[in-house]
Amino acid sequence: MPVYAATAGGGVVVDVDGNSFIDLGSGIAVTTVGNSAPLVVDAVRDQVADFTHTCFMITPYDGYVAVAEALNAITPGDHDKRSALFNSGAEAVENAVKIARSATGRSAVAVFDHAYHGRTSLTMAMTAKNMPYKNGFGPFPAEVYRAPLSYPFRDGLDGASAAARSIEYLERHVGAENLAALVIEPIQGEGGFVVPAPGFLPALAGWAREHGIVFVADEVQTGIARTGALFACEHEDLVPDLIVTAKGIAGGLPLAAVTGRAELMDAPHVGGLGGTYGGNPVACAAALATLRTIQEDGLVARAAAIGDTLLDRLRAIQAVDPRIGDVRGRGAMVAVEIVRPGGVEPDPVTTKAVAAAAHAAGLIVLTCGSFGNVLRFLPPLAIGDALLGEALDVLGDVVARTR
Ligand SMILES: Cc1ncc(COP(=O)(O)O)c(C=O)c1O
Repeated sequence: MPVYAATAGGGVVVDVDGNSFIDLGSGIAVTTVGNSAPLVVDAVRDQVADFTHTCFMITPYDGYVAVAEALNAITPGDHDKRSALFNSGAEAVENAVKIARSATGRSAVAVFDHAYHGRTSLTMAMTAKNMPYKNGFGPFPAEVYRAPLSYPFRDGLDGASAAARSIEYLERHVGAENLAALVIEPIQGEGGFVVPAPGFLPALAGWAREHGIVFVADEVQTGIARTGALFACEHEDLVPDLIVTAKGIAGGLPLAAVTGRAELMDAPHVGGLGGTYGGNPVACAAALATLRTIQEDGLVARAAAIGDTLLDRLRAIQAVDPRIGDVRGRGAMVAVEIVRPGGVEPDPVTTKAVAAAAHAAGLIVLTCGSFGNVLRFLPPLAIGDALLGEALDVLGDVVARTR
């Protein structure tokens, strides 16, 4: 957007000219607890005054350990866990792959159609979409294999059939015995907020378990309260071997993590994983304050309530507009897929026009999807009902005006 932010909080971004925008993007699912959430601000201020960096690998500090222990406690599964902290989602995904390879002695990695896992060299190979993420940036690392995904709006398959198709593909093209890891977003982010058909994820996880393949849930976008559960895996009682988190876990500061089964996490040699800034003390302080905010403000339930409002209101818009082919999502992670009326042919031109008109009307909305035809809504959970209602009124007007 052609604006520069000056201040932000409570679901509003104010630009340097004094214009206010309602935030339905949370800086791409980062400021889940809201911008400059009070506990985060206090914690960061205190930590900055104490020390800003020592490097955890040189002189460790409590904040890192506290974040690791908290993630071990709140991620799905009651098995013995370990966590390692990094700076970005892509870096954490790469480390999950390193851990899986080290633990299994295998090299192949399964990913899925429409996936987005980041922009580093390995994660570009894992990401599906060429433009703008990969074009001209190859060659990409080998041993990354892309399987079909469950995409109910486009394939009409139930979860079991879609999983059987993916498994058959992987067995035929790669071989289960060669796979170190299967990496999947429980709900795809950049790929279009694709919610797989029920049963798809558990069937894949069961197959992975049977064949000693490390099941990695990339919850970088879905993680921490966003979907009306702390983690999206919980909606299908899924217990991943490794779970990758980033974005929403630290209230806007750069922090990411891999959390998982102790025996997998302990597989790499000492000193094999790390980095100068991973688990920076200021980011760790922000993460602990973020977790406290989520708990004290009941933000898991709030995400579910925001989701109900978003789905209701967007379905009402869909009922009178045949260009809206699908409304989907979980909790405060909801999207509409825009198509040519009456079918499933993607309409990225209209999508772009609606997004531009929404921006002009004072809404921060994001687009996504392999076909560029999905409008996604990721409001901060600190947004109030009145402001959310106002945003949806404006959106309704904007969509009607572009008809
Ligand atoms: C599911 C998923 N994985 C990984 C990433 C990469 O995270 P980062 O941009 O912090 O490297 C993203 C970012 O959008 C994401 O949505």
